Amino acid sequence: MSTAPKQPIAGFSKLSKVGKIKWIVENFFREPDTVMRELTSYWHHNEDQQKVLDGFSENTISNFLLPYGVAPNVMINGQYYCVPMVIEESSVVAAASSAAKFWMDRGGFKARVISMIKKGQVHFLWKGPREKIREIFPELKDAFCRDVQPHIANMEKRGGGIRNIQLRELPEVEAGYYQIDVDLETCDSMGANFTNTVLESFAQTLIAFFEAHPGFSTEEREVRVIMSILSNYTPDCVVRAEVWCAIQDLGTFPNQIQAEEFAEKFALAVQIAKHDPYRATTHNKGIFNGVDAVVIATGNDFRAVEACGHAYAARDGQYRSLSDCKVKDGIFRFWLEIPLALGTVGGLTNLHPMAKRSLELLGDPTASELMQIVASVGLAQNFAALRSLVTTGIQQGHMKMHLQNILNTLGASDPEKNLIQGHFSDKVITYQGVREYLERIRDQPATFAVKP
Ligand code: MEV
Repeated sequence: MSTAPKQPIAGFSKLSKVGKIKWIVENFFREPDTVMRELTSYWHHNEDQQKVLDGFSENTISNFLLPYGVAPNVMINGQYYCVPMVIEESSVVAAASSAAKFWMDRGGFKARVISMIKKGQVHFLWKGPREKIREIFPELKDAFCRDVQPHIANMEKRGGGIRNIQLRELPEVEAGYYQIDVDLETCDSMGANFTNTVLESFAQTLIAFFEAHPGFSTEEREVRVIMSILSNYTPDCVVRAEVWCAIQDLGTFPNQIQAEEFAEKFALAVQIAKHDPYRATTHNKGIFNGVDAVVIATGNDFRAVEACGHAYAARDGQYRSLSDCKVKDGIFRFWLEIPLALGTVGGLTNLHPMAKRSLELLGDPTASELMQIVASVGLAQNFAALRSLVTTGIQQGHMKMHLQNILNTLGASDPEKNLIQGHFSDKVITYQGVREYLERIRDQPATFAVKP
């Protein structure tokens, strides 16, 4: 039966943190005192630190913990990284570590940033003749650049700033609809705030320019700004990570699969993901297992990275694999090109205590270095998934790791866990199978020599 309150609450955000929890536990939970203790048990023991965490969001009542793991030995462009990964899925960190080790022995990952241009747009309506706006656009551009100067001076000092301003006419959306399309470079910051500040300045300039321009009639002076916002689609902020080796150096694989056969099956698996959106989605999900884990660990915006990555995967009209593979002239080559708008300064990167530590662990990288690290981990993850898929199947490794979760869910003791892990080391692991085996152990403790 639902425990939800009959009435909505007014002024929830004004309640104290304890007041908020009290209302929640009393209205939604069967054991309010237990839940109150549980929620407060996740508060940080350091009050100042907790205040910082609370400040990231609104109506915060507790913290939600996720595992923080590392993949050591990730060799990129000849340099070793120990990469922090925040992820809840069993076997992702193990898979990344294993693929990193595999490629470390074969020259490691080679990565390079292709470009770092980001984009923002001012969307507006203007009902005058098109030729007229085209004609005055150079003048308007000058006005944008003049008015925005105080907002971009610092970014320019750091080497970033506005790279291009274009007028786009899109009457197919609506008669008189235009965009001011802005290309920007934001150095080591992700640049969302910078971009939106620039765009809002442009929007004000746009309105003032049309109001004051002597060449417009009264009706033509009216410009309606619809919105000014960055685009999270950054197809020109792209990084490439790659691995290659001679086919025979791939070695041998489980189930007696030799290097040649492995390379052929692997390349075909990628080819399938290039053509079939059902497979491509799962294939890319595997890439994002690695990408998101590092993006989250470094305090970056994983929703932006995901949204952009998937849009990029569909850039020719069909959703396809983000990675590619070629087996030619005795060489196995596997690569990933992915747009990644990341920052290593600003935002949460310097505020979240663990994000700060993640960046330190990575040697305080620039945004461009972080892009290379994230792409390499995405490629490692993709390699590990495909290697399992075309050899042993995914469940063997995955369920071995997931067994811990099953055992914890079933409340197995340490001695019981040892017995069950031993028993299932060469068997198919299922929740049902583990539960039944645990019941047998508990029914016949003497046989299994387990202390209850
Ligand atoms: C599981 O999280 C990810 C995989 O399904 C990816 C793939 O199939 O390539 C293993």
